[in-house]
Amino acid sequence: MENIVTTQDELYKATLGFVDNIKNPAAKEVIQYRQAMYWGLTEMQKNGIITTNLLVGIMQRLRSTTENIRQNPGTKLANPANHAVVYTPPEGEGIIREKLAALEKFMNDDSYSALDPLIKMALIHYQFEAIHPFSDGNGRAGRILNVLYLVNKNLIGLPILYLSYYIIQNKADYYRLLKEVTEKQKWNEWVTYIVKGVGETADMTLKKISAILLLKASSEDLLKQALKSSYSKELVDLLFSFPYIKVKVLEEHNIAKRQTASEYLKKIAGVGLLTPLKIGTETYYINHQLMSLLSK
Ligand SMILES: Nc1ncnc2c1ncn2[C@@H]1O[C@H](COP(=O)(O)OP(=O)(O)OP(=O)(O)O)[C@@H](O)[C@H]1O
Ligand SMILES: [Mg+2]
Repeated sequence: MENIVTTQDELYKATLGFVDNIKNPAAKEVIQYRQAMYWGLTEMQKNGIITTNLLVGIMQRLRSTTENIRQNPGTKLANPANHAVVYTPPEGEGIIREKLAALEKFMNDDSYSALDPLIKMALIHYQFEAIHPFSDGNGRAGRILNVLYLVNKNLIGLPILYLSYYIIQNKADYYRLLKEVTEKQKWNEWVTYIVKGVGETADMTLKKISAILLLKASSEDLLKQALKSSYSKELVDLLFSFPYIKVKVLEEHNIAKRQTASEYLKKIAGVGLLTPLKIGTETYYINHQLMSLLSK
């Protein structure tokens, strides 16, 4: 589960393109998760469907591996507390691929069943986890699949619904309900759990977006004061795209040349919108109010 505490500093530096320099394992995992998700989104949008290969590609990026479908026999899911086996997934690449092909058909062919996409997503997630096609990364890949599926069905435009948060907060129920579907066919409880999660997460996400938009609007006023006629909408957008920013980013986005860009950032820091932070020889400017909203 990606309930890992990341060094925010490293994460936000990564948004500036230092992905290869990230040493902190937790930050690295978050960055790989993000890369895998966006790769999956782009691939999915090329032909509009979710395929086995797409899922394999996501897992490979999550884990930085070239591994494919699980090969080794003897995979068993155990209760981490007492190591008791709770589930034995299907074995053999041929069988796993057959099951994934059936899942593919279920995901992409809606004439097949007239279920609400949210209910289908719950069924798909269970089925993917039960197939457990990989030697590792099935949980993470399955959670990315959830959000990609919602994009695929046009329920959301961007993969910003962070459903994993709910699953992580309700992890014991998550494990119990997966198990109860297998053992007692308790589909109703499972679907209810997932749909409730979508509701709570959507609520939380909307609140967060509103708070960010509000902050952006009030920042625009301050920015106009600081920059007068040099103010531009592009610059505000940039300050809200990069929680950490530096002169070079302004240059790269054609806001201004080096010297001028540096003056802009100093002026913006002067009105308290950004906080300068020197790391090595580089000065970063941090949108600390945005960061505090993002990490709440
Ligand atoms: N009884 C069960 N039946 C089916 N799937 C299960 C069951 N218990 C757990 N799982 C799934 O297996 C996942 C863990 O598998 P794996 O270690 O391959 O994934 P991961 O991405 O590395 O781990 P995590 O989900 O903890 O981040 C869980 O997240 C869950 O989705
Ligand atoms: Mg694992």
